[in-house]
Amino acid sequence: MLWGGRFTGATDPLMVAFNASISFDQKLAQVDLKGSIAYVESLFESGLISQDECLKLSDGLKKIAVEWNAGEFKILETDEDIHTANERRLEELIGQLAGKLHTGRSRNDQVATDVRLWLMDAVSEISMILKDLIKTCVKRAETEIDVLMPGYTHLQKAQPIRWSHYLMSFACLWESDLERLEQLKERCDSCPLGSGALAGNPFGIDRFNLAKRLGFSKVIRNSLVGNSSKIDFIGVSDRDFIVEFLSWASLMITHLSRWAEDLIIYSSGEFGFVKLSDAYSTGSSLMPQKKNPDSLELIRGKSGRIFGNLSGFLMTYKALPSTYNKDLQEDKEPLFDTVETIKGVLLISTGVISTLMVLLFFNFR
Ligand code: ARG
Repeated sequence: MLWGGRFTGATDPLMVAFNASISFDQKLAQVDLKGSIAYVESLFESGLISQDECLKLSDGLKKIAVEWNAGEFKILETDEDIHTANERRLEELIGQLAGKLHTGRSRNDQVATDVRLWLMDAVSEISMILKDLIKTCVKRAETEIDVLMPGYTHLQKAQPIRWSHYLMSFACLWESDLERLEQLKERCDSCPLGSGALAGNPFGIDRFNLAKRLGFSKVIRNSLVGNSSKIDFIGVSDRDFIVEFLSWASLMITHLSRWAEDLIIYSSGEFGFVKLSDAYSTGSSLMPQKKNPDSLELIRGKSGRIFGNLSGFLMTYKALPSTYNKDLQEDKEPLFDTVETIKGVLLISTGVISTLMVLLFFNFR
């Protein structure tokens, strides 16, 4: 066991389950191994392990990556989290040498690194999906540029506007969401590995090379706390990048929920401006006249859970003493859930926009 050295008594089985995060942090399996392979190379670079040891360690880690990919990795009841699980498996594969992997490293800098790497990948994926949504909306505005609709203030008919103008109002909002997302990625892109448990790495690991190996463009400047200028982050206990992502998602879904609400209204029998495609609506067995905009209602409804993830994690994060505290393990579920939810919402929104039928055919010319 990774941390059992000083302990003689057994842990209460309820506590074992309570303490474990493997059920959800196994999502980090690949980035965890990536971090370990880079760390092994740094150990070699600093002369702490031999070339042969370096090869054995990284080969073992690569085998574990293949096992996870193939769905063959067997989680044991004793695996507390993804870090202990991967290291337990490494020991099974290459023996006691596996223990050297942890030289000067702590799960504190390890988990902070894993989550940043994972989020940077997730952000790239979300950014692509969001670009697709914007493009779909702009294309639609272009082909339907001459269609007119009533514009509303106070939900009362105000002045006629172009349908394309209305569509572009959301494309513009989403473009600013995209810009914010890219900016947030820059701040996430800073390597905490080498911070150790809190006080840094005593073995002279080159943190700049380590960061480069992992694809980070910079390193964090303080292993425990730091002032927060544009490029300055706090080490093992910094989860600002998670708060930032959750806040980003909250504003993104705010925009989407307003758009969804508009279309729910516009697709009602009373307004009749648009008709949702069958692919994104459901019917009623009892009332055949009905076409329910379930897709849009779910987009609107999922905003609650995204705001909940943000406020829940902020409550956990506030007033924590420096530096790492186990409370921080609670960062993952809201983050993972928000990433999955926002991806789903963006994909469905793109589907809704591209298949919507417009019933407002008032030509300008
Ligand atoms: N599973 C833990 C987490 O997600 C890893 C870090 C554990 N660190 C510790 N000092 N117990 O936060």
